[in-house]
Amino acid sequence: MCKPVLFFALCATAFGHLVDRTLEPGAHGRDVVEAVVHRIHKSGVFSDDKDYLRRVAYAESRFGDDPATYREGYYGGIWQCDWLLVTQHDGPYNAISPPLKRIHEAIKDKMGIDWLQVKEKDLMKPFYSGLAARIHIEQTNHRGIPDDIRGQDTFWKVWYDTHRRQYGDFEKWVRHLLEEDMRTVGGKIDTMMVMDGSGSITEIYFQLALDSLARLVNIFDLQEANVGFVVYSLEVTKLIPLMNNLTMSKLQESIRKSQWPALGTNTSAGMFAAIDEFRKLSDARKEMGIPRLLVVFTDGKHTEDPDPGVAAEVAAKSGIITCALGIGPKVDNDELLRIANNESDFKFNTDSYETLREQIVLIARRAKTVPQTPKMGSETSETLKEVGEKRYYRLGMPQNGVKIKLVNERGETRGYWTYAGERPSSALYDGVLTAGETLIPPPSARVSSGEVRHRRNVSLDAPNNDVMIVLESFATNSEVKMKIVEHGAKSAAIKAEVICTALILVFALIIVLLK
Ligand SMILES: *[C@@H]1O[C@H](CO)[C@@H](O)[C@H](O)[C@H]1NC(C)=O
Ligand SMILES: *[C@@H]1O[C@H](CO)[C@@H](O)[C@H](O)[C@H]1NC(C)=O
Ligand SMILES: *[C@@H]1O[C@H](CO)[C@@H](O)[C@H](O)[C@H]1NC(C)=O
Ligand SMILES: *[C@@H]1O[C@H](CO)[C@@H](O)[C@H](O)[C@H]1NC(C)=O
Repeated sequence: MCKPVLFFALCATAFGHLVDRTLEPGAHGRDVVEAVVHRIHKSGVFSDDKDYLRRVAYAESRFGDDPATYREGYYGGIWQCDWLLVTQHDGPYNAISPPLKRIHEAIKDKMGIDWLQVKEKDLMKPFYSGLAARIHIEQTNHRGIPDDIRGQDTFWKVWYDTHRRQYGDFEKWVRHLLEEDMRTVGGKIDTMMVMDGSGSITEIYFQLALDSLARLVNIFDLQEANVGFVVYSLEVTKLIPLMNNLTMSKLQESIRKSQWPALGTNTSAGMFAAIDEFRKLSDARKEMGIPRLLVVFTDGKHTEDPDPGVAAEVAAKSGIITCALGIGPKVDNDELLRIANNESDFKFNTDSYETLREQIVLIARRAKTVPQTPKMGSETSETLKEVGEKRYYRLGMPQNGVKIKLVNERGETRGYWTYAGERPSSALYDGVLTAGETLIPPPSARVSSGEVRHRRNVSLDAPNNDVMIVLESFATNSEVKMKIVEHGAKSAAIKAEVICTALILVFALIIVLLK
């Protein structure tokens, strides 16, 4: 009799409630923008934008942090987008062209938003500002969104911010953003870079690719990360083991000095060699659920069997996440998708070996957000050097929920968790994690809310019922320990029993005394 009461009391405090700041008028900041961009990208309504939408938010308003973003009487929001009417009706006499109509229908279908009902003031909400900007970009995108920052700068001046700004303004801000995105961050990860060295590439472009890869590996902190490298053509011609003792500069030098083998394209040979490297990892490292990432860079399609999709499946079976970056116009996009195990979030393209230098940032940002998958009962410790550094985790949720115990050994680290199938952040979460103990209830006990009710695509980021956690530092050189404990059904039941018994005894006592 007592148990249900207790259960409800517990639940009332433990219910998560989705906080979604992308729909909050006047919200701003990096987390808000990234949540908006990620959601628009995942909806599949628009083609790949080469990071342009996110960059526009930075160039226009520093992700909304510019104090003038929400000035009096202006409703363009973070994307400073003040042409809502054109995104609703693009023809004379309120006509809507068939391509725009298709976009409206897709938005209705995937996001549940009737775009024609949107009012100017709605663009104060980051998600609406971003979506209006994205529709406008699509309307003006006649020859594809340029792949390089210089080209995007021109595209922006001609079509996006024609009157207020100068050529070069976009580029200036976005170079700054690029530098930030390519900064070294800590975090435990094991990663193999697999580079196509086939004959179609040409020597100069092969060198350019090596140079880009050398830049990419610099994002990892080799104290916590293992980084290996493979060059393949018909067979593997160069291998830097995953577990090597190279310093960053030696690793970069070794990558740059790789020879160009210039024969056929046996992509699975490169992938299998990388998979073998992961097998050599210590059991301790595997136990900790440290992410294992295999990235393939290729300019075309394989010429030698087996199909790289076979290697990708083998990788997936042993818990390795595969990622594909196609370079140039000759890539086979289906093959890239197979390499990425059908995860469109892990498939990237860039126009050429020249643009690779900048677009490699897409891999950098992806690698930084691949979650660790710690076990129940385990304890992880993290060192976060910079303010705002983040670590991601994914947990399969046991029936009764989990308890997260966070201990700040130094500095300050806090966290967010969500079941929403998206990356949690200050902009999007079901609950927060602060120092001490936090109970994350199982998903069934969660009340969901939110205006945008589209069913999101399940992905490696957060398969069904998995909870995603992020830890973020709020002080330099923060050190934090996180312990993950399954919330015991038994112990809770026993507690309830004890309390019930105690209450009955008290009642009995009172009755006896009253008599
Ligand atoms: C790296 O260094 C450790 C200890 O110094 C050594 O045991 C190990 O064999 C080295 N590994 C490689 C690949 O050189
Ligand atoms: C391609 O690589 C695979 C896997 O290592 C190997 O079995 C196959 O023989 C290779 N093909 C050629 C033509 O070398
Ligand atoms: C990827 O999709 C293709 C086509 O839909 C399918 O044949 C293949 O089995 C899928 N692979 C994986 C690993 O899911
Ligand atoms: C999920 O993503 C895949 C690949 O991008 C897409 O084909 C599919 O339609 C998406 N599903 C939903 C429900 O949006």
